[in-house]
Amino acid sequence: MENIGKKYTARAHTNIALVKYWGKENEELIIPANSSISLTLDEFYTDTSVIFDSTLQKDLITINDEITDDKKIINFLDLIRKKAGINLYAKVESYNHVPNSAGLASSASAYASLATAGSKAAGLELSDKELSMLARRGSGSATRSIFGGFAAWNKGTDDNTSYGYSIEDPVKMDINMIAIVLNGNPKKISSRVGMKISYETSPFYDSWIKQTNDDFSTIENAIKNGDFSTLGKTAELNAMRMHSLTLSADPSYLYLNKDSLLVIEMVKTLREQGIECYYTMDAGPNVKIICQKNNIKPIINKLSNQFSQDQIKVSGPGEKVKLI
Ligand code: DP6
Repeated sequence: MENIGKKYTARAHTNIALVKYWGKENEELIIPANSSISLTLDEFYTDTSVIFDSTLQKDLITINDEITDDKKIINFLDLIRKKAGINLYAKVESYNHVPNSAGLASSASAYASLATAGSKAAGLELSDKELSMLARRGSGSATRSIFGGFAAWNKGTDDNTSYGYSIEDPVKMDINMIAIVLNGNPKKISSRVGMKISYETSPFYDSWIKQTNDDFSTIENAIKNGDFSTLGKTAELNAMRMHSLTLSADPSYLYLNKDSLLVIEMVKTLREQGIECYYTMDAGPNVKIICQKNNIKPIINKLSNQFSQDQIKVSGPGEKVKLI
């Protein structure tokens, strides 16, 4: 228990899903309804420090220097305490280097870094697989952010069989992502709530699972074969299939706005002009364009007609979580 009373800091990067996770079979354990695949991104990350301290009377948590008593984070610390067999409170300091406006989920990098720093500070020595299972309990997408490059989340059926793993790291494929920031407003329907409504009410949900299992194999093979075109095309279709679940839910809802549709049209026009690129969107309006290095410039040129420089953010593949 020599780690107790020492501060540990971990850095984890966000990821963008190529095969989306959108629905839970078990809400408490966060067991997803399908397996998913993502690319970890180098530009956006979270640094989280944790120390378990016998002088504390309660957990002290700050995010970007603002105090919070977020129940989800405290429950997550309880999980770590239970695993480690300790009952000390923790001081947690987390800094998101994910521009709030970037529309990239910070919960993935936040819980991946909290799981890594928190378990170490509690005296646990966890493997990457075990870290991914712990991170999963905070936020599903965090399962994949333990790993760098292309990562998968095996859905599994219970706490011990639902984990993340690396498909390819470092990434051999030439692949980049351009995020177009469209809307800084907090989303009205969180992904947690949105996926629950889709899971419970969309009449297309069973078809989504069937199709997504196919998309998983297609993208996994595309990664192994270095086939960028198949990867991009399938990721784009998979994103639209996810968004069609929100449209077909009761109540129906939509994350995309008119600017999202504008970017989608721009991507199609670029493709017609021979510039290969594909779009994907998560639970928000921002569009992310998947492309290869030589096309970054022409894509940014086109986007610059409509959007300002600070709305356009380019990322490459990112590293696995690490203690810093
Ligand atoms: C659209 O991981 O944020 O980004 O597990 O409820 O915390 P919770 O959800 P979260 O959902 C991510 C949804 C997504 C797709 C994906 O990342 O696979």
